[in-house]
Amino acid sequence: MSAYTFPTFPDLKDKIVLVMGIGQTRVEGSSIWGNGAATARAFCSNGCKVFGCDINLTAAEFTATRLRDEGGICDVMAADVTSSSDVKKVVDAVMEKYGRIDVLVNNVGMTRPGTPGSISEEVWDQQMDLNLKSVYLSCHHVLPIMEKQNQGAVVNNASIAGVSYIGKAQVAYSTAKAAIIHFTRVSAVMYAPKGVRLNCVVPGFILVPLVENLGKSDKEEDREVYRKITQHNVPMGRMGEPEDVANAALWLASAASKYVTGQPLVVDGGLTSQTGTGQ
Ligand SMILES: NC(=O)c1ccc[n+]([C@@H]2O[C@H](COP(=O)([O-])OP(=O)(O)OC[C@H]3O[C@@H](n4cnc5c(N)ncnc54)[C@H](O)[C@@H]3O)[C@@H](O)[C@H]2O)c1
Repeated sequence: MSAYTFPTFPDLKDKIVLVMGIGQTRVEGSSIWGNGAATARAFCSNGCKVFGCDINLTAAEFTATRLRDEGGICDVMAADVTSSSDVKKVVDAVMEKYGRIDVLVNNVGMTRPGTPGSISEEVWDQQMDLNLKSVYLSCHHVLPIMEKQNQGAVVNNASIAGVSYIGKAQVAYSTAKAAIIHFTRVSAVMYAPKGVRLNCVVPGFILVPLVENLGKSDKEEDREVYRKITQHNVPMGRMGEPEDVANAALWLASAASKYVTGQPLVVDGGLTSQTGTGQ
């Protein structure tokens, strides 16, 4: 099994887990996992059967191969999470194979820079589709299944950019991430009587391959973002690891959190709990 030791939640064994955005940004020579890939790994290490999709099939297959090499059970397929028909195809494929979906993880998310004055309407719409509509679409197709099962857990991946300004003008991404937190909160109330819980993980600065890549970019603006993220003011004095995000998702999907719903679980080393004036 996995070289990293994830916590074990016995109720998760044999659960069917669907991860939207299971691939990861690839960085030559890097062995770190992306948030979504690490989350899939955490579920595999708990004996779950993972089904993942990604717009980039090669990236999804890279994760699946790593998981299978560690003894995990993982199937993947290509899908664009902004397309309702693609999302439906993925959900149908999981139902065809396993007949149920116990856990849904919405991991896809990506930022584009811009203030309200500078961001184009086209980029705004793309950001809303990718970061927010994608969450609605997967919930639209999966929640009726969980409702019929009278059981299920959804974990959405938000961001502290949806809670505070984090030093980078990214108005569309921040707005979409804030909306994910609220979508999760109000949907959780609607589904609470149906045995289905919805929560979100709200990551802070996490050292994932995507961030590593910014530091290696030949664009100065990317390297500047990398510097801001890595020369941070995190009270714990370090960035988070993808496994920190994965552990939070694992707990939120397990019965250990069975009385928790509608919550944003902030995983940021204390960053958003301070005023910025330091200690
Ligand atoms: N790294 C951080 O510091 C940080 C902080 C806060 C939140 N997050 C959130 O973490 C999540 C992603 O983390 P990651 O490390 O897994 O990122 P990643 O970019 O490495 O992986 C995301 C995967 O999503 C896939 N994807 C992109 N568009 C898609 C689409 N339309 N349909 C299907 N798949 C698509 C990509 O191909 C990629 O494989 C995002 O929601 C991001 O907002 C990250």
